[in-house]
Amino acid sequence: MAQPTIKLNSGHAMPQIGFGLWKVDNATCADTVYNAIKAGYRLFDGACDYGNEKEAGEGVARAIKDGLVKREDLFLVSKLWNSFHDGERVEPICKRQLADWGIDYFDLYIVHFPVALKYVDPSVRYPPGWTVDGKNDVQQSSASIQETWTAMESLVNKGYAKSIGISNFQGSLIIDLLRYAKIRPATLQIEHHPYLVQPTLLKLAEAEGIAVTAYSSFGPQSFLELKFKSAEDAPLLFDHPTIVEVAKKHNKTPAQVLLRWATQRGLAVIPKSNNPERLKQNLAITDFDIAQADLDAISGLDRNLRFNNPTDYLGTLHIFA
Ligand SMILES: NC(=O)c1ccc[n+]([C@@H]2O[C@H](COP(=O)([O-])OP(=O)(O)OC[C@H]3O[C@@H](n4cnc5c(N)ncnc54)[C@H](OP(=O)(O)O)[C@@H]3O)[C@@H](O)[C@H]2O)c1
Repeated sequence: MAQPTIKLNSGHAMPQIGFGLWKVDNATCADTVYNAIKAGYRLFDGACDYGNEKEAGEGVARAIKDGLVKREDLFLVSKLWNSFHDGERVEPICKRQLADWGIDYFDLYIVHFPVALKYVDPSVRYPPGWTVDGKNDVQQSSASIQETWTAMESLVNKGYAKSIGISNFQGSLIIDLLRYAKIRPATLQIEHHPYLVQPTLLKLAEAEGIAVTAYSSFGPQSFLELKFKSAEDAPLLFDHPTIVEVAKKHNKTPAQVLLRWATQRGLAVIPKSNNPERLKQNLAITDFDIAQADLDAISGLDRNLRFNNPTDYLGTLHIFA
């Protein structure tokens, strides 16, 4: 079944529903990607930091070999990790990531966080994570976002990425980036769920023609696995009476309502599941429409509650201050 797409400002079409690869186990990642392609997923949202790009690529290669899809049917996304923001580091690491996936271009390559960290050589540790020593020493590099973005633009010019985007950027930084960008970001990927709606950031993106991809659409759920206190303290969105009521109305699950709430408002979603049934369920969200009053009621649950905040897990890098 053909999935809805979003037309990007780069001219390319991006599937509106994709599959997120964060915390997809290495041992099962290739099979999960293969099965997701079989189930109809065409967009995969990967990253250096997820540590499973080789396995994801194996799943893609097997699906292509078995004739399930061609490379051009897929929309493969990856991200530039913070330790590779220095201008001269961007192309080499992107090429390494392409080699890990076993492909020669990304459909979309994203600056993962607006934070430049000190370079860690991949032969020392890969993926490097947030610290320079693999323990707790967070050290910043002096690269500006302009330096990094200029290097990102050259990836498009050289054919390594069809579109480039940003993630975890806030309004004023986006406005500044647009002043010097020769290639505008095609997408902005942000944490977005009913507890963190960020309406003014969405308005800015819309006004500037930047498509928004919502991550962690299920709110606290993803962060319970990491034992984040902020997630443990928040009521589960899956049990919230407003979400449950809308789900009952449509004979859908709360998870499907959370995803449809986002796609109906024009956002792309990239849910992750290690479970084959839930993986299929998360794709089956195009056959119902939530009434405007219910969309508004769900948006009304906003608490400006962010789970993915580096300050909380590193005690530093106050990028959402
Ligand atoms: N740019 C960034 O900084 C950033 C940050 C975070 C995430 N992301 C991207 O966004 C993707 C999605 O975000 P996420 O992984 O944080 O969280 P998510 O998709 O909101 O939630 C995943 C959690 O929900 C469970 N789940 C999945 N489908 C379900 C369903 N239908 N019913 C009930 N539970 C369900 C999963 O468990 P099971 O696996 O057991 O089903 C897992 O515990 C990531 O994989 C990644 O690609 C990007």
